[in-house]
Amino acid sequence: MTKPKVLATHGLFDAAREILQAGCEVEYWTKPERPPREEVLRRVKDKEGFVCLLTEKVNEDLLAAAPKLRIAANVAVGFDNIDVAACTKRGVLATNTPGVLDETTADFAWTLLMAVARRLGEGEALARSGNWKGWDLDQLVGTDVWGKTLGIVGFGRIGRAVARRAGGFQMKVIYTDALRAPENVEKELKAEYREFDTLLAESDFISVHVPLLPETRGLFNAPKLQRMKPTAFLINTSRGPVVDEAALVQALETGKIGGAGLDVFENEPSIHPGLKRPNVVLAPHIASASLETRSKMACMAAENVVALFSGRRPPNMLNPDVFKS
Ligand code: DGY
Repeated sequence: MTKPKVLATHGLFDAAREILQAGCEVEYWTKPERPPREEVLRRVKDKEGFVCLLTEKVNEDLLAAAPKLRIAANVAVGFDNIDVAACTKRGVLATNTPGVLDETTADFAWTLLMAVARRLGEGEALARSGNWKGWDLDQLVGTDVWGKTLGIVGFGRIGRAVARRAGGFQMKVIYTDALRAPENVEKELKAEYREFDTLLAESDFISVHVPLLPETRGLFNAPKLQRMKPTAFLINTSRGPVVDEAALVQALETGKIGGAGLDVFENEPSIHPGLKRPNVVLAPHIASASLETRSKMACMAAENVVALFSGRRPPNMLNPDVFKS
């Protein structure tokens, strides 16, 4: 029996390849650079499955080029690169990888938070430069993390994992979300609900964990950034366009906020030059990048594909109606 043909836009990890090879004939893109769009459109033509990264757009364009496509499996939890409605219209199942990257991403939000508060970027550069003249009382003095107020914007799985870690730093945790968390969750995490504007005014650190949706695009705009304390830090490991980068640069330049820790950017991989400042710690979208987690993400995507082709219910469907029909 012929196996369904699948295009994977990355070589993936061995564990994921094993899962895929059991049920599919897979063509992998293995070059170190991301595949050019024309190449993806050309290769997906005769494929029934598509395993993609968040750098590939699954839109009308791609769907039209792939008339046999039955599934687009994103190796990411965020799926703003996928036009789910267009997939549904064409009967293509879309899947993502929720759950497996929560703790790893929360660890990294804390990495950025600690690094920017304690000026690690500057300290590391100095230590490597050969120009360090020795200990001094006021050298690279940062700001304490412990005992401060942490504001979490988006209190889903990742936001809650960030909150859980704050207890060790004796912080006060406040959060905002479209939906208020159940009482037992607030109690367990010692987290208090706030309206967005109140959270902005009260927080010393703000960590962002919302998906990119029309209503969250530009959520942190100039007026919202103005509401933050001039000493507060903004940490973003969600999606770049949630923060208006030009407004953020302006807020940093004029001292409206204390600094930022950023893993995501409006136009990746380009980074606004105004963000390359000492009080900003920058990372290249690596919050989920532990070997364990990235491998699990690839396996989840592979399992979604293999499940569909073997008539089982894929575990992480974004448009389950397609499967039902
Ligand atoms: C995601 O999964 O959405 C992250 O941005 C990459 O891990």
